[in-house]
Amino acid sequence: MPAAPLICPSILASDFARLGEEVAAIEAAGADWVHVDVMDGHFVPNITIGPEIVKALRPHARIPFDVHLMVAPVDPWLEAYREAGADYLTVHPESGPHLHRTLRRIRELGARAGVVLNPGTPLSVLEWVVEDIDLLLLMSVNPGFGGQSFIPSTLRKCEQARAMLDRIGSPAVLQIDGGVKAENAAACVSAGATALVAGTAVFKGGPDAYAANIAALKGA
Ligand code: DX5
Ligand code: ZN
Repeated sequence: MPAAPLICPSILASDFARLGEEVAAIEAAGADWVHVDVMDGHFVPNITIGPEIVKALRPHARIPFDVHLMVAPVDPWLEAYREAGADYLTVHPESGPHLHRTLRRIRELGARAGVVLNPGTPLSVLEWVVEDIDLLLLMSVNPGFGGQSFIPSTLRKCEQARAMLDRIGSPAVLQIDGGVKAENAAACVSAGATALVAGTAVFKGGPDAYAANIAALKGA
């Protein structure tokens, strides 16, 4: 049986009026990472969380901050999010002309480097950077909003990504993001995912429900 996945609640689905408390509450409820969705209103049709907010939230939890950058161009923002306390910085290949350079820069800044692929983006873009990543994130919805439905073809893509990482013995985390819930979490793990991002499925029901919601995703 595969190991339980890392659960990375997306604070996009949390109560924005109480963000610090929400971050502390998911840590106490058993979250492994805090997933921060950064949107610029240009690369994706929504605007969310700037580096000052990440900096303000960082003291509220000890677990890693996993910052998913939906921003173009992305390079000018790497340093600010790293300084704000990001442990993982994850970028879309479409968000700059030099993916390899961007990944190198993230590691130079002392962070772990992630690449995220949209549902329509093929795994082949990774061919020459797969050794330079610590995290591969597969989008199971088109980025921009929480609460969308899981795109089933993500599971086949995940199996192929698993094979690609295993072929070179890569220890990279394989993460899925979008529409993940207890009902499809086991299928994601069977397809080779080692980390699951979940917004709606973690934050539904309010703080009293977070521990059970996280346990349901882990144990599914
Ligand atoms: C979408 C974001 C996701 C999303 C997850 O652009 O990257 O992290 O908000 O939310 P749910 O789990 O509600 O689909
Ligand atoms: Zn995300």
